[in-house]
Amino acid sequence: MKGEFDHFMQKEIFEQPEAISSTMRGRLVLDVLGAAERVMLGGMSQFAATIRRSRRIILCGCGTSYNSAIAIRQLFEELTELPVTLELASDVLDRRCPFFRDDTCIFISQSGETADTLKALEYAKAKGALCVGIVNTVGSAISRATDCGVHINAGAEIGVASTKAYTCQIVAMVLVALSLSEDSRSKHTRRDDIMQGLLKLPGCVKECLKMDAILLELAQELKEEHSLLIFGRGFNYATALEGALKVKEVALVHSEGILAGEMKHGPLALVDKHMPIIVVCTNDGSYEKQQSVVQQLKARDGRLILIVSDDDTEMEKTAPDAVILRVPKVEDCLQAVVNIVPLQLLSYHLTVLRGHNCDQPRNLAKSVTVE
Ligand code: UD1
Ligand code: F6R
Repeated sequence: MKGEFDHFMQKEIFEQPEAISSTMRGRLVLDVLGAAERVMLGGMSQFAATIRRSRRIILCGCGTSYNSAIAIRQLFEELTELPVTLELASDVLDRRCPFFRDDTCIFISQSGETADTLKALEYAKAKGALCVGIVNTVGSAISRATDCGVHINAGAEIGVASTKAYTCQIVAMVLVALSLSEDSRSKHTRRDDIMQGLLKLPGCVKECLKMDAILLELAQELKEEHSLLIFGRGFNYATALEGALKVKEVALVHSEGILAGEMKHGPLALVDKHMPIIVVCTNDGSYEKQQSVVQQLKARDGRLILIVSDDDTEMEKTAPDAVILRVPKVEDCLQAVVNIVPLQLLSYHLTVLRGHNCDQPRNLAKSVTVE
């Protein structure tokens, strides 16, 4: 089952180019010249008009699935022009959130069986909201209970830490955002850029996987550390959170994903010459702000590891001592799919080097079917 790989987590990280292609297969429709022309989501077409008329869109999930919602929020806001809010499923129930008939709630789940997400779905249904699923497992409880949805078709995910489901959830939701905005003339160019970017995405993820040996080397350097901070913002705030979640859940190292805009409001106090810090600073609308974050972290002697775009020339000048990880540049809203790959590889290697089981991390289960 694991083939040439030592662990399912490793196999599933390396399967991502193929898994992402599967998510898009038959849904990103090409013209005769092979360019992406439009998006066709069989399961959503009947409901698209109702969703466009919603008062707001609520993205809901737990853990990694919730992080994928964070990654996609900005694009949903941009393309649908609707207010988009995020909800952790357990918190929906704790707060008894005000949901309404004219809300669309999108429930994201790899297993489709997570108790908190399923309960939040039942709650939203009882309030009369339209419920949409973004689910990997066909026939699962969430897939069956939603009004409509999209199967991400990532293939079975066995490793407890979610890897390929995360990237495929983001891609599936990009497709949803594109299909909800297909009538918008003003967004034609942006939509077209994203569609052509999607076509290139599996190749860019494959390119990123070639960094495996570099990440093994970095893991060797970091394996005795007790803490790791990861800063991101904008489209890559989710990358920071998801990278930190991977590091803590499998490598059993304390790690915190931090919104870089919050740095001065507390986290900066943790920075000294011993603290390893990863900053996601690929080239998008947040680049200049991230450059300033890097300068400030450097001024406090932080041990910097920077994830930058492959054509970047500025960051290594800003922080000449930093470890630089170069990733392929893609459309800004797709960059999170590429940027998480080095962090998945790093957490995998840290886990193996520290002698832990990455496929069955301590105290965790693949499917959390109790609240
Ligand atoms: C469907 C078929 C696929 C086939 C394709 C051909 C299934 C599961 N999928 O894929 O095998 O190749 O047509 O056109 O038979 N749904 C929910 N909630 C969810 C996820 C999905 O209600 O969380 C619903 C959808 O609204 C849809 C159905 O399940 O009615 C199948 O969804 P999906 O597999 O995403 O649809 P297609 O991509 O059209
Ligand atoms: C992290 C992880 C968990 C799940 C969470 C939701 O790697 O696997 O955080 O993402 O338990 O599970 P699903 O997506 O199955 O609802």
